[in-house]
Amino acid sequence: MEKWNRRELLKNSLLGLTALGTGAFALRETLAPTPAYGELGEYGKFLIARGEKPDEAPLPAREPTDSDSMGPYYKEGAPFRGYLMPRDAPGTPMIIRGRVYGHDTRKTLEGATIDVWQADASGSYHGMDEKENYLYRARMRTSRRGLYQFETVHPGRYGFGFWARPSHIHFYIRHPDYQSLVTQLYFRGDPRLGDHERARPSLIIPLRKISLGKTFELGNFDIVLVRK
Ligand SMILES: [Fe+2]
Repeated sequence: MEKWNRRELLKNSLLGLTALGTGAFALRETLAPTPAYGELGEYGKFLIARGEKPDEAPLPAREPTDSDSMGPYYKEGAPFRGYLMPRDAPGTPMIIRGRVYGHDTRKTLEGATIDVWQADASGSYHGMDEKENYLYRARMRTSRRGLYQFETVHPGRYGFGFWARPSHIHFYIRHPDYQSLVTQLYFRGDPRLGDHERARPSLIIPLRKISLGKTFELGNFDIVLVRK
């Protein structure tokens, strides 16, 4: 773990000189107000059209979700919303959803707070600057059935050559009765996974394509927390 942290820090510090501040665009004018949670967005409409209820899912028999390094780009206080950037941002549209569970009870956890942040499609981080208004970041609170969901674009890899990291999304999950978890989500088939960087298997999810007017990549990432 310590080795990973140092490696990521080195890569990110090399990148930090160029990644931040390039390609940034003002968000205050382009982002809609934060929607109330429970507005499930495009994927919710998709499920309902298929006659499925978004809150129905079996409880997994799983180990606690693995942690991963936080990296240097976390910023406290992101707005509560179900999307990370304006709808017209470049990149492959993606929906990530899942449930948060307690490992001890195997039941879903209402009221867990989830911070997510990621690079844009070209691999640059944003939103550290006040003017960018938490671009490519969001916070969510899990619903009564432990559900969370957000819309984004497939994050770009960042770094150069050997130092390039696989695509990933950062997660920071907190709940009053459970241990906080900092981790990262990766995507199956990413050529930078494996020999280049070993992500823990529980953090790698498959993506499938769904059509909702436009094509989205859809991934499910359930998170299992350990009680305090
Ligand atoms: Fe990162």
